[in-house]
Amino acid sequence: MNALTTSLAARRKDPSRFPTDADLIGYDRAQSFAKMIAGEIAARVQPGMNERDAVATTAQVFKDHGIKDHWHMPVIGVADGSTKFTSAGRLIKSVFGARKRVLRDGDLIFIDIAPFFEGYPSDFTLTHLYGKNERLQRLIDCALGLTRRISTHLREDQHAGQTWEWIKREIESSCAYDLRQFPISPVAHRFAKVPESWPYFREIGTVHLFVMGAPILLRSSKINMRGLWVIEPLLVDRELDRAAKTEEIVFVTGGETLIFGEKPFAG
Ligand SMILES: [Fe+2]
Repeated sequence: MNALTTSLAARRKDPSRFPTDADLIGYDRAQSFAKMIAGEIAARVQPGMNERDAVATTAQVFKDHGIKDHWHMPVIGVADGSTKFTSAGRLIKSVFGARKRVLRDGDLIFIDIAPFFEGYPSDFTLTHLYGKNERLQRLIDCALGLTRRISTHLREDQHAGQTWEWIKREIESSCAYDLRQFPISPVAHRFAKVPESWPYFREIGTVHLFVMGAPILLRSSKINMRGLWVIEPLLVDRELDRAAKTEEIVFVTGGETLIFGEKPFAG
């Protein structure tokens, strides 16, 4: 086999770019499961609770569903805790004060979870508003709409740098918010199941991601977009000091993008 054939064969074995049909079903079920779990966490957290309570509630929901393994560890942010991934300084600061971040009516919680289900990873964020707050609702709707527009725009013949530019233009023309991005929060990153030979450890998905080629959508990247991606633009309303995002896992091909976890979880 010459070098080109070898490298093509290696690429076809890359589960992030060439998932099997069984994998597509596995990711789809795992993502539906994660969405259901995030919804249950949001329903069990109530105004009056602080971020510590919300973290404890999350742990209880995981326990109730027998969830032990996570592609990345859960991130829960209440009120201004939603901004913890908007800068390195915010991330460090957010380690403290969880008791003081109290959920009020008209405010939001940020639930970023990634439980394994039937051996497949998931990755989902729910930004949930309690009660009414038009401005926060607009921020959440904008993040959801933008994520979906990105998901459905992607095709394998685009390269990552072009995609990055398109997303930036799309945000500038349609959203009045700041977009936060790499290194703290990439707009999109690749996604794949972890090799079976790996033992389970904390942040296994994050570590695996960084051993893959071109794991993050970067302006400078020329790699084509085929494969599995997590789309997760993080929008910030600086005045309100709140952030919102969702996460969609998609499979980008030459045709219509496949978006995982669209159906309600069926057990
Ligand atoms: Fe996530």
